[in-house]
Amino acid sequence: MTASDFRPGLEGVPATQSAISDIDGQRGILSYRGYSIAELAAHSSFLETAYLLIWGELPDPETLRTFQHDVQMHRRVSFRIRDMLKCFPAGGHPMDALQASAASLGLFYANRALDNPDYIRGAVIRLLAKIPTMLAAFQLIRMGHDPIQPRDDLPYASNFLYMLTEREPDPLAARIFDSCLVLHAEHTLNASTFSARVTASTLTDPYAVVASAVGTLAGPLHGGANEDVLLMLEEIGTVDGVEAYLDRAIAEKRKVMGFGHREYRVKDPRATILQGLAEELFDRFGHDEMYDVARRLEAVAAERLGPKGIYPNVDFYSGLVYRKLGIPTDLFTPVFALARAAGWLAHWKEQLGANRIYRPTQIYCGAAGRAWQPPEARVAKNGDLTG
Ligand code: CMC
Repeated sequence: MTASDFRPGLEGVPATQSAISDIDGQRGILSYRGYSIAELAAHSSFLETAYLLIWGELPDPETLRTFQHDVQMHRRVSFRIRDMLKCFPAGGHPMDALQASAASLGLFYANRALDNPDYIRGAVIRLLAKIPTMLAAFQLIRMGHDPIQPRDDLPYASNFLYMLTEREPDPLAARIFDSCLVLHAEHTLNASTFSARVTASTLTDPYAVVASAVGTLAGPLHGGANEDVLLMLEEIGTVDGVEAYLDRAIAEKRKVMGFGHREYRVKDPRATILQGLAEELFDRFGHDEMYDVARRLEAVAAERLGPKGIYPNVDFYSGLVYRKLGIPTDLFTPVFALARAAGWLAHWKEQLGANRIYRPTQIYCGAAGRAWQPPEARVAKNGDLTG
């Protein structure tokens, strides 16, 4: 093994075999279990899609009803979890609150039985059911309100928006939010999913698997970019400011948030669908001037970044949709996590089906054969390396 074998970021290195989703990055096609994302976003629901991802087939009507019912029955969380959320600092990032609360479920449901399909099903249902409740509870608590209980008569997406905003959402808003969840549910072996699989491969519990993936999703190069896109659009401010902003970003070699993808050389198909959803929302609930800025940025970037295969990714339009739905900016990434939990759980189950613990190798490039010296002999030479 030599340095020339090293692929930074494991680019192009197959790290698993998976039957869950597939990307054709040249043609801009994403499919879950062989179904195109466009078809699923148009016709499926988040819970149906989650079932498809995790168990490999679309559920028949009875199976779907039972699954939806079981998720609905597990939405409530223990008062201890609500109390724990109350102890978190209100100024903390909701991704940290989500990571901690997802991990805490392992304390409540500790009887791990990874070879039992009922345990797998129970853990999937519990995580899909409770993540929205915990997230909405943190949001209300940090606003100084009491968390509200889930509404059994509302479907998954409506119930989340209801718990978050304390108002029953408009059916169009709920339908569009559900489509957003479908679009974010899975995306092959991205950083957080890889993290989930590595954690799963140690045979730890599924709550630790999801918590480790949440931590990985939080960074600005991954899920965190959706927050930064909106901040960037606001910084640009007007359509007239786009060209100067882009020129400056390119000159300073700064990444334009919401652009570029390791897998796609064309516009991310999810960005195209999200753009359509944004327009539906604006038609119904009023225009957002930041959308004009975004469209201008996409057009100008097509000339300047397009030749390098850099186009809008899923995060470019999602923030505008979430903002119109009344979701606070720092909840954009947690909402991404809420949806991606379906994919992480599918990968958890797949990993368990043919498990081998991940243990890659490295190419050592450090010093060798050094002899320990007392502090007096080294301070002058090394200085303080901790600062
Ligand atoms: N703006 C400007 N230049 C870019 C961008 C961008 N957004 N993305 C890539 N490039 C350039 C980069 O500067 C480099 O140029 P050069 O070869 O001249 O040095 C080249 O394209 C390759 O970039 P890279 O960073 O080596 O590519 P990567 O595959 O390692 O990174 C990425 C992919 C998504 C991390 C990167 O495109 C990026 O940082 N984008 C901005 C952040 C973002 O929108 N992230 C969300 C990703 S999609 C959702 C998700 O995965 O969570």
